Amino acid sequence: MRHVAIEEGFDAWRDAARQLLSEGVPPDQVFWYSATEHALFSSSEATPAMSGGTLFSITGEPAIATAASTSAVLHPRVRVPAAFVDLAKTVICHRDQLKWPTLYRAIWRVTHGEHDLLKNAVDEVTRALAIMEKAVRRDCHKMTAFVRFKKLVTGDGREQFVAWHRPDHLIVRRMASFFVDRFRSMDWAILTPDTSVAWENGELQFGPGVPTDPLLGDVVEDLWTTYYANIFNPARIKLKAMQAEMPRKHWPTLPETRLIPQMLKDAPARVQKMLDAAPKVPVMLDYVPKTSSLRVLHEAAEKCRACDIGCHATQVVFGEGPKTARVMFVGEQPGDQEDLAGKPFVGPSGALLNEVLDQIGIDRSQVYVTNAVKHFKFEPRGKRRIHAKPNAREMAACKPWLLAELDIVKPDILVLLGATAAQTLVGRQFRITQSRGQWFKSDWSEKTIATFHPSAILRSIDAESMEKNKSLFTDDLRKVARQLAAA
Ligand code: URA
Repeated sequence: MRHVAIEEGFDAWRDAARQLLSEGVPPDQVFWYSATEHALFSSSEATPAMSGGTLFSITGEPAIATAASTSAVLHPRVRVPAAFVDLAKTVICHRDQLKWPTLYRAIWRVTHGEHDLLKNAVDEVTRALAIMEKAVRRDCHKMTAFVRFKKLVTGDGREQFVAWHRPDHLIVRRMASFFVDRFRSMDWAILTPDTSVAWENGELQFGPGVPTDPLLGDVVEDLWTTYYANIFNPARIKLKAMQAEMPRKHWPTLPETRLIPQMLKDAPARVQKMLDAAPKVPVMLDYVPKTSSLRVLHEAAEKCRACDIGCHATQVVFGEGPKTARVMFVGEQPGDQEDLAGKPFVGPSGALLNEVLDQIGIDRSQVYVTNAVKHFKFEPRGKRRIHAKPNAREMAACKPWLLAELDIVKPDILVLLGATAAQTLVGRQFRITQSRGQWFKSDWSEKTIATFHPSAILRSIDAESMEKNKSLFTDDLRKVARQLAAA
């Protein structure tokens, strides 16, 4: 039996797994345990005797140094699907120590004839990993939602923002880059019972955990509770969902929870008030600057995290074209190629749009092309990223960017490509099948027209309907060209 004392983190597990695989040690011959816990409860000299077998310790630097001397044996080329590595990096954040043997069991099978193990969703090991992965992802999401910074002023007058949070899993290192991206310009620290992380003067540092919230009851809470009271939407109260989304264990660090009973009482009156006021633009954090520069707008959008899509995409894909453009085209959201290029409509849909614009004599460089949603939403499938439709909340979160673009460009003619664009700007009742190709007046242009989205044409069920849809699309855009020439 091999006894593996292992540190937390993907690298430690990967090194240990590589070594075990290179020696052909089957999963049922390995006993995994936490090096940190072991160090707490026993002295290192006692370890070999207590373990009753070979002590095989993978504990950071010293082990790596040993590994380097026999690298041919210790670093065999183990080929596993990329999806396995992604999965392992997530699962390794799970608190349950069963993650180590379960991952090793999986990699053993993947490298011993079951290359597609992860595709078998009903396999016991695959299912166990999927459950752990889901729990970690959910915990990461909760951390993005429930970390509340309190402002402290240091002796030399500098401002620091500190939060205490209690995640279920070991996700602090994984999540650090999210907070760096979001709060790059301030000094902050997030303390958790396991680990702490601080961002100071542009440097990230990790330190020991802090078991309880040292700052309970700071003044900044007042600001937060006021903010929460203002955004709390009484028309959408779902108590069960609220408790599920905001588990009680997070309540002590969420100052706003103290407001909930009173707000629930006030809810009916507030619903009526909200209906009366009926704001046109959904409440969102103040990401959109007041500017008449498309460049400034674009730069600000790079930092937008009003919804989660931006956390997974490569970059924002903002609108493109001259500020003086007379025609604006609005699509749905960037696709895979747009996400990589950072430009709208450069993939297959863009090729079709370009072809038709050429045919009807509209110069693409003279029009403004943008999307209702500015980040690529996708679902990973192995190495591929499959387009996923943005939901109503994501469309609403991104809408202020589109409105700001419309406000700057003020197009004479507005062309809505597909239902997402049309529903974002005209209303959820809009149907392309009913209103395609008809001019109407919208809030943004006297001359607004909706037509097919090029990707819908490319997805037509057969060649014949593709030809037909393409010809209707061309007819619609020809109307645009005529209108442009006439005005
Ligand atoms: N589909 C869109 O809606 N927009 C793009 O930029 C590309 C594909």
